[in-house]
Amino acid sequence: MTVLRSVVLGCGSYLPERILTNAELARRIDTSDEWIVQRTGIRQRHIAADGEFTSHLAINAARAALAHAGVDAQSIDLIVLATSTPDNTFPATAVAVQNGLGIHHGAAFDLQAVCSGFVFALATADNFLRGGAFKRALVIGAETFSRILDWNDRGTCVLFGDGAGAVVLEAQTQSGKSSDRGVLTSHLRSDGRHKSKLYVDGGPSSTQTVGHLRMEGREVFKHAVGMITDVIVDAFDATGTTAEDIDWFVPHQANKRIIDASAHKLHIAPQKVVLTVDRHGNTSAASIPLALGVAVADGRIKQGDLVLLEAMGGGFTWGSALVRW
Ligand code: UT7
Repeated sequence: MTVLRSVVLGCGSYLPERILTNAELARRIDTSDEWIVQRTGIRQRHIAADGEFTSHLAINAARAALAHAGVDAQSIDLIVLATSTPDNTFPATAVAVQNGLGIHHGAAFDLQAVCSGFVFALATADNFLRGGAFKRALVIGAETFSRILDWNDRGTCVLFGDGAGAVVLEAQTQSGKSSDRGVLTSHLRSDGRHKSKLYVDGGPSSTQTVGHLRMEGREVFKHAVGMITDVIVDAFDATGTTAEDIDWFVPHQANKRIIDASAHKLHIAPQKVVLTVDRHGNTSAASIPLALGVAVADGRIKQGDLVLLEAMGGGFTWGSALVRW
């Protein structure tokens, strides 16, 4: 029995030039490099320049992904852009990206699931490709969280950064087995009872302002590992795989302690964990494709490898995806 699968043709990423180190932050607010590294694993983050928007970051990442995939932008008929920091309230940042890439056919839209955005966008594009509606998709996570941070709140401003990452997916006929290339399964969850634990205190309908990020960090931390591991077990159960079968674990890069605890609970060996939070902090929807970009570029992730993705964030939203590279 043959099936359509969404196969990853390539990936790419982009980080703004400006690096903000922990030491520099410690000169501005009451924090220290030691506290930030110990509690989060973060050493630095990138900050978009004045006039550099989420769409600009996304276009750079998309161009890198297209070049890596070796395909022309004109062959893309779907763009799903995950972001919580769009250029404007509307239109979707995805259409600015589409236009920037010179694409004037197909469909482009934004998707908002905060830090889980990339997994939600991947699952959405995968469903469209497997359903036959589109043939080749760009799935992008792009954020400029520096623009919604309260730079006087040390509990949040040390955690986040700007960046973008993208993958090119193509619908290909495969055998229907777990040895297939492509997205093998994805599992999405949300629970709005937690919506006030990580949110932005503004918006067009409520305050007519952009607002700032607010978080009860300890509360988020408390739920993170359980939610992440539950949805990964769903991915294992759906595909008949186990932690032993995983070649690479590429989690949302929010906090090294959450990543380590999740991997430990699932019995995923530490050497299989791709960790990039030290170099760019929490870039929300961009963090997974940024980590994928690093692990593909340095030769860790190779064709045929089984790659496990997961994320958890505001909403709460959380999700997992299992991809044969
Ligand atoms: O993308 C998904 C969403 N986000 C997350 O996954 C974040 C989840 N949460 C976390 O990662 C952690 O809760 C944090 C890193 C945000 C905080 O770590 P924590 O171990 O939970 O610290 P805490 O909030 O319990 O604070 C401990 C202490 C407090 O001082 P007191 O009350 O013990 O005197 C804070 O005021 O650390 C203090 N603190 C800081 N100290 C230095 C908070 N932020 C800072 C800071 N520098 N930047």
